Amino acid sequence: MRRTAQLLLLALGSAIAMASASHKRGLVFVPNEQWPQDSQIWVKPGSDLTWYYNYKPKPDKFEFVPMMWGKVDGTAFLDNVTQVIDGGRNISHVLGFNEPDGAVSGGSNLDPESAAQIWVTNMEPLAKRGVKLGMPAVTGSDRGVKWTQNFARECAKVANKNCTFDFLPIHFYGSFEGLASHMGSMSASFPNVTQWITEYNWDNQDLSTTQSFFNTTCEYFDRLDSVARYSYFGSFRSKVSNVGPDAVMLNNDGELTDIGSWYLGGSATGVNPQSAAGKSGASILAAVTAAGIVGSLLALP
Ligand SMILES: *[C@@H]1O[C@H](CO)[C@@H](O)[C@H](O)[C@H]1NC(C)=O
Ligand SMILES: *[C@@H]1O[C@H](CO)[C@@H](O)[C@H](O)[C@H]1NC(C)=O
Ligand SMILES: *[C@@H]1O[C@H](CO)[C@@H](O)[C@H](O)[C@H]1NC(C)=O
Ligand SMILES: *[C@@H]1O[C@H](CO)[C@@H](O)[C@H](O)[C@H]1NC(C)=O
Ligand SMILES: *[C@@H]1O[C@H](CO)[C@@H](O)[C@H](O)[C@H]1NC(C)=O
Repeated sequence: MRRTAQLLLLALGSAIAMASASHKRGLVFVPNEQWPQDSQIWVKPGSDLTWYYNYKPKPDKFEFVPMMWGKVDGTAFLDNVTQVIDGGRNISHVLGFNEPDGAVSGGSNLDPESAAQIWVTNMEPLAKRGVKLGMPAVTGSDRGVKWTQNFARECAKVANKNCTFDFLPIHFYGSFEGLASHMGSMSASFPNVTQWITEYNWDNQDLSTTQSFFNTTCEYFDRLDSVARYSYFGSFRSKVSNVGPDAVMLNNDGELTDIGSWYLGGSATGVNPQSAAGKSGASILAAVTAAGIVGSLLALP
């Protein structure tokens, strides 16, 4: 990716005007042991990100939303989160099971009946402490919608009252139209429940399709009052991506791609997601400069 300085400056100038900060923006944090330095990218001054989750009940880095990923014994999740809160950390929201309707690709594979038992034991006590609870995040499918309906019914049986669902996390992989339609189905099942889009992308598309999907969705989520937060998938390098080589925020050298930089409130970097080490030194400078210009929204604990 060779670019002239002049081109970069032009790109920088227009992107500064266009880059828009969003307080809704968060991070699905997928650290990689091989490149621990990549984790620092998300907490640089100027980053747009205000929250994150990591599929676990305990924090890695900055402001944190715990997740009860799957099946737990007894009150193990509740105990873990209580420990984090009692340790002085401000936990205001927690996420429920990760894709319990799925057995593959990271799904936690739980039937609604067992899930309801675990929920009432581990999540409802947190609601009593004022923590807001996110409904389990099912796969973006009709099967997923059905799972949440069964789960809500089972949960009410176990709890002898309707369970607490303060917000509705949504996962979706596919076109913008598909995503919007899925959000509609979820809101038909759970009217008036605020949505968080906690995993989304149009996976395995070419770069320009991916970028235009990215722009359209950010604009849509920012505009809708019913969407409180969103976190783009994924925050990892191209060669370890499970959603296609162009869907990522880092290239193979850990540099921010255009999407990665836009997501943090910066300008285009011109870094091709599939490029390898050392191909785009000038682009890093552009990203860092732009990130410095956009004000810091990060609230580090
Ligand atoms: C609770 O925390 C411990 C220690 O970090 C961990 O091993 C365990 O898996 C956690 N349990 C749950 C249910 O999150
Ligand atoms: C905890 O975080 C929430 C959400 O970010 C915020 O509204 C609240 O004021 C915070 N509370 C404290 C004690 O910092
Ligand atoms: C419980 O939820 C169901 C639908 O999910 C609703 O029809 C019913 O009114 C709710 N009951 C209470 C007591 O809120
Ligand atoms: C729920 O949403 C519908 C559609 O937006 C709206 O008409 C209705 O007033 C809302 N109900 C409540 C209780 O907020
Ligand atoms: C996406 O938005 C950025 C500005 O944030 C703009 O520079 C770029 O041209 C847009 N790309 C597409 C494909 O819409």
